[in-house]
Amino acid sequence: MSEWGGGYVTDITYSVGWYRQQSPAMMALASIIGGASATIPAGDDPVLLLELGCGFGYGAMALAASNPTWNITAVDFNPAHIATAREWAAEAGLTNVTFVEADFARWEDSPVLRDLPEMDFVTMHGIWSWIPPAAQTGIVRLLGQKVRPGGLVHLSYNTLPGWQERIGVARVIREAGQRVAGRSDVQARAGLRVVKDLIAAQAHFATSGSSVTNLVNTLEDANVHYLAHEFMNAHWAPCFVTDVAAALSEAKLEWIAAGNLPDNFPELMLTEPQREIFNRYSDPLMQELIKDMCLPRSLRHDVFVRGARRINLSERAAALMDVHLTLVKRPDDLPDAVNMPAGRAELNKEFYQPIVTALSTRPGRVGDLLRLPNLVGRRDNPAELISILIAADMVEPTSRPMTAPGVEAMRFNTVSARRLMGKESPNRPVAAACRPTGIPLVTPLLALALVDFVRAGITDVDGLMRAMNTSADQEADARTSVEACLHRFLPALKNAGVY
Ligand SMILES: C[S@@+](CC[C@H](N)C(=O)[O-])C[C@H]1O[C@@H](n2cnc3c(N)ncnc32)[C@H](O)[C@@H]1O
Repeated sequence: MSEWGGGYVTDITYSVGWYRQQSPAMMALASIIGGASATIPAGDDPVLLLELGCGFGYGAMALAASNPTWNITAVDFNPAHIATAREWAAEAGLTNVTFVEADFARWEDSPVLRDLPEMDFVTMHGIWSWIPPAAQTGIVRLLGQKVRPGGLVHLSYNTLPGWQERIGVARVIREAGQRVAGRSDVQARAGLRVVKDLIAAQAHFATSGSSVTNLVNTLEDANVHYLAHEFMNAHWAPCFVTDVAAALSEAKLEWIAAGNLPDNFPELMLTEPQREIFNRYSDPLMQELIKDMCLPRSLRHDVFVRGARRINLSERAAALMDVHLTLVKRPDDLPDAVNMPAGRAELNKEFYQPIVTALSTRPGRVGDLLRLPNLVGRRDNPAELISILIAADMVEPTSRPMTAPGVEAMRFNTVSARRLMGKESPNRPVAAACRPTGIPLVTPLLALALVDFVRAGITDVDGLMRAMNTSADQEADARTSVEACLHRFLPALKNAGVY
C-alpha cells in the first residue's frame, strides 16, 4: 500500500465500466420524478459536468464523445489512471474532456480544480464508501464550492443494512489478504480462499442466509482489478442513506431521488404491508431507510440537488410528457417482465409492445406515445412508463434526440474497441458512444468491434470472421457470438444512431 493512497488501493489499476446513472439526462430525469425541477440536457446544450474518481475516464470519455458541446472534467488521484485517460482521449480526438490528477482530500492543491467554474452536474460512482473520511470531507468541500445553485449530484455507495450479513466476508478478505505478500489482487484472492474455507467449515456467518454464498459465488469469477478495488481498501465502510444525506447537507445538497428510476416507486418495490409502514412517513429519507430495510439493496445510486425547486404533480407530468425516448434494442427484445427487488414486474404487452413498435421507426415523445390509439393500460403515468422501459434496457431518454450519428462518437468507439479487444472478453458489456441519445449504450465489446467492418460493407458472418482474424480453435464460439452481434446488437446500435 502506497503512502499517497491514504489506505486506498494504488498498486493495481481499476477496470473500465459505464453506468447510465452517471449521465446528466438520467440525473435530471430522476430529479423530475422526485418532484424537483430540472432540465434534461440535449446533446447540443452547453453542459458542465464533473466526475470524481473517474478511473481510466472511460465513462467521462463516452459521455464527451456522445455530447461534443459538453465540457467534462474528470478527477482521479492515481496517475496511472490519468495517464491512460489522457492518452485514450487524445487518440480519440476528444477535446471536451479534461483529466485532472488530484486527491479529494487536498483538491485545493490543484490549480485546475481551484479555478473550476460552478458545475451543472457532478457524478461519482464507486467512490464514497471506499475512501477515507478525509477524502469524503474533501469531496463535500468541493461540492459546497463547485456545484451551481440548482445543480445535480449523483453518487453511489455500498449500503446498510444491505451489506450487514456480508460485512464479515469483506473484512476477512482484507484482513486475511493483508497477511499474504503480494499485490492487492493476489491478496484479495488469498482472502477469498479463507472465506470459502470458513463457509465449508460451516462457520456461523455463512449459515444465516443465501446472501453470503451468493456473494462468494459471484466473486469466484470476478475481475482481479474489481476484487482489489472492492475489498482491499483500508477505509471501506457501507453507509446508511440518512448518514450520506447528512454529510452532503453540509454542501447544501438535498436528497431528491433514487438514481435507479424504478426505485422511486414504492408500488413497484414494496409489498402492501411494507407500503403501509412506508406511508406512515412523509420525510423522504425515513422512507428511503424503510425501503433499505425491506429490500436486498447493497448499492444505492442517489441524486442530490443544490436548492430544490419543488414542482407539483401536474408540472411533473407535463415535464415527463416532453421527454423523448429512443429505442436501443430491437422491438422483439421487449421482455415479459422486469426483475425488481420486490419480485418480477410483469410487463403488460398490450401496453408496452405498441409503444416499442412505434419507437422502432423513430424516437418518440412520451406524451405522443401515450396517445397511441391501440394502447391497453394507463395513459396518465408517464413516470412509470419511462422508468419501466429504462429498467428493461429498451430505451434511453433525451429532451431532443439528435438526428445523425456523430463523428466524435464513432471515432471514440473505434479507438475503444481497438484498445479493449484482446484485453477483455469479447462478450463483456462496454459503452457505445451515441450522439442521438447523448447517453452511451451498453453493448458487447464484440459488437462495438464489428461496427467499423459493417460500415466498410462487410455484412456476412464469414466475412466478419475473416476480418476479425478468428483462429481455427476459436471458430465455433466466435461464429455464435458474431451471429448474435450481427442479428441482434448491431441492428439495435444502427437504429439508435450509434453509426
Ligand atoms: C472503484 S474505482 C471507481 C472508478 C470509476 N468511477 C468506475 O466506477 O469505474 C474508485 C476510483 O477512485 C479513485 N480514488 C480513490 N481515492 C481517491 C482520492 N482520495 N482522490 C481521488 N481519487 C481517488 C481511485 O483511484 C479509483 O480510480
